[in-house]
Amino acid sequence: MSYIRYKNKNLFVEGVSVKSLTSKLSTPFYLYSKSNIAENYKSFFNNFKKSNPLICFSVKANSNIQILKVLKKMGSGADVVSGGELLKAIKSGIKPNKIVFSGVGKSEDEIKLAIRKKILLINVESENEAILINKIAGGLKKKIAIGIRLNPDINAPTHKKISTGKAEDKFGLSKTNLISFCLNIKKLKNLKLNAISVHIGSQILSENPFKKTLKVLEEIIEKTKIYFKFVDLGGGFGITYKKNDKKINLKSYSNLVDKFKKKYDCNIIFEPGRAILGNTAILVTKVQYLKKGSNKTFAILNAGMNDFMRTALYDAVHNIIPVVKNNKKNKGPLEFVGPICETTCKFVKYNKYQKLNQSDYVAISDVGAYGASLSSNYNTKPLIAEIIINKSKARIIRKKQDIKSLLKQ
Ligand code: LLP
Repeated sequence: MSYIRYKNKNLFVEGVSVKSLTSKLSTPFYLYSKSNIAENYKSFFNNFKKSNPLICFSVKANSNIQILKVLKKMGSGADVVSGGELLKAIKSGIKPNKIVFSGVGKSEDEIKLAIRKKILLINVESENEAILINKIAGGLKKKIAIGIRLNPDINAPTHKKISTGKAEDKFGLSKTNLISFCLNIKKLKNLKLNAISVHIGSQILSENPFKKTLKVLEEIIEKTKIYFKFVDLGGGFGITYKKNDKKINLKSYSNLVDKFKKKYDCNIIFEPGRAILGNTAILVTKVQYLKKGSNKTFAILNAGMNDFMRTALYDAVHNIIPVVKNNKKNKGPLEFVGPICETTCKFVKYNKYQKLNQSDYVAISDVGAYGASLSSNYNTKPLIAEIIINKSKARIIRKKQDIKSLLKQ
């Protein structure tokens, strides 16, 4: 069920008409559906129900504490990649024993914080990181649970800037290095090797690379004879942004995961981000100006790449839909662009679109993951508001940033 849909030409999020919000709140703003988040979480869990996984929501996809609270209530843990994300996850009520910490460059302070908070796993990404954790743990007279991240050298078809599992990518250890790390782990006396983790990239729409990864994990377990307590299979499950995107079918992968779990008697962890949040939000924005170009019309929005970065960074296509539909046609092609002084501050171009007027409202779709969390103050613009809808109630979960806070330095 889609919680973001039209009722008689008017765009609604759950029981609230977007138009009614634009008359009360200044645009642009992010607008989420709480039920959609809860439903996505449930449906992700149900896909893998047989293996009863711990789901650690990838906080980098959306780090708003109120959203983390919604997920926490559903039973989610957290995958974090910084001390800040770790503190946010804890503040939202997620128990440290459901938190895993990934990332290639954890600082000493971040490692100490993770140890102090007694999180489930620090997913180590290099031998030298393990040596540092071992040293810190020794100083604190503690034995620390770690996971070791594998780089399986698997090419998962996705945008080249969000692939993480190929040999040339900086993440994890190669199969050979990981095996020798495992066989020498006893030397690092203050570490417990509790897990193996892997994450091969993001927005992956085929299940094959995930299946191949599972094979590499089997090979490692067979070779090392280390039966890890946890196997963290990462995130990366894609969503359909474009009409032609093929929906990923997780059924057969899920069966393989279940067999794997039974064979090696391990606990399964997943770290989805986009699959839980991606389609749960729109970015509501106003057509500030219409401008005739030589072969198209520019619809200049009041939201830009500072507010929503995915298009500028990854050439991602996000549909822009009208807040109120009409039956009239725009003359010629139309390109939606933002106000930031960069050529890449543009969103999407349509050959056909409905008639638009200045001050009309439109919504950039599928912005719940890596939308607000990737936004910035570029061009000294304040961060925009985030609002969540629960049935017929709207609640501000991040206020628009006060411009004064940008004038301090
Ligand atoms: N686990 C680890 C270790 C990760 O690095 C990531 C994402 C995830 C889990 C969650 O992946 P997801 O399920 O959301 O695909 N900013 C980019 C995406 C970067 C993803 C980085 N790592 C974008 O907007 O497409």
